[in-house]
Amino acid sequence: MSNQKMAQYSLEKSPADKSILVLSGKGGVGKSTVAANLAISLSLQGYATGLLDTDFHGPSIPKLLGMEGTKLTSPDGKKLNPAELGSLKVISVDFMLSSRTDPVIWRGPMKMNVIKQLFEDVNWGELDYMIVDCPPGTGDEPLSVVQLIPEPTGAVIVTTPQEMSLSDVRRSIQFCHALKLPVLGVIENMSGFVCPHCNERTELFGSGGGEEMASEMGVPFLGRIPIEPEIVSSGDSGKPFAYHYGHSQFAKDFESIVTDIIEKVTSDKVR
Ligand SMILES: Nc1ncnc2c1ncn2[C@@H]1O[C@H](COP(=O)(O)OP(=O)(O)OP(=O)(O)O)[C@@H](O)[C@H]1O
Ligand SMILES: [Mg+2]
Repeated sequence: MSNQKMAQYSLEKSPADKSILVLSGKGGVGKSTVAANLAISLSLQGYATGLLDTDFHGPSIPKLLGMEGTKLTSPDGKKLNPAELGSLKVISVDFMLSSRTDPVIWRGPMKMNVIKQLFEDVNWGELDYMIVDCPPGTGDEPLSVVQLIPEPTGAVIVTTPQEMSLSDVRRSIQFCHALKLPVLGVIENMSGFVCPHCNERTELFGSGGGEEMASEMGVPFLGRIPIEPEIVSSGDSGKPFAYHYGHSQFAKDFESIVTDIIEKVTSDKVR
C-alpha cells in the first residue's frame, strides 16, 4: 500500500498518550509475556493502560491473562467496551473470532481494517499507555499499527540469547529504523536460569548476545530476564506473573526494565 493511500487510514488521535509496540523477528521468544507483564506493571503503578493483542494467527494474551472466551459488550450498539483486568483494559483479536480453533485467513488490508477498528471502535477512554503485542516478524500487524497511530512512542524488542533469534531480531530493528519508530531497547529473555535451591546461575542458552547485538546495532539494551519455570504454569493458568510472584528474580529484573522504559518515554530521550 502506498504511503498516500495509507494516510487515509491513519487515526486522527491515538487513544493513548504513549504507545509501545512489543516486537521480535522470532516466534516464541516471550513477546506476549513481556507485553502482558509490562501492561500489568504499568496498570498496577496507577497508569491508565490498555493492552492490545494484534496476533491474528496465535493470539495468546487472553490465555496469559485467563480471559479466554471473553464476550465483549457494546452499551450503545456502536463501540465495544474492552475487557478489564483490574484497571487494565484488554482487547484481543481473539475476542472477535467466532471460533477459537478456526484458523484465521485474512489478507493484509483486511487485517489493517480490523486493527483500525480495534483502536477506533473500542471505548478505550483516555489512556496513558497502550501496549501492543505483535505476532512474530515484520508483517502487516506491526506495520498497520505504526501507520495508524499518529506518533507511536517506540518499540521494545524481545530476543533470546541464541544467535538464531538474534539474527531475526536485527531485522526487527531495521524495520523500526525504516519506519522511523524509535527503538526503546532490547530485552534478552530466557537469559540464564537461577536455581531456586542454591541460587546458582546457569546460562542454558548462553547469555549476553542480546546486549552485544544491541550495541552493534546502536540501540539501547534494557536488560536480561531469566528463565522462570513458574511463568509457564502461571501463563497456562492465566495468572499474570508480575502480579502474583513479585518476589521472584524474574519480577525484580522485569520491574527494573519497566522503570527504565517509563524513564525513557517520559524524558526527551525518545522523539
Ligand atoms: N522468562 C521465561 N521463563 C520461562 N518461560 C518463559 C519465559 N518467557 C516466556 N516463557 C514461556 O515461553 C512460551 C512463549 O512465550 P510467549 O508466548 O510470550 O512468546 P511469543 O514471542 O509471544 O510467542 P509467539 O511468537 O508465538 O507470539 C510461553 O509458554 C511462555 O510462558
Ligand atoms: Mg505472542
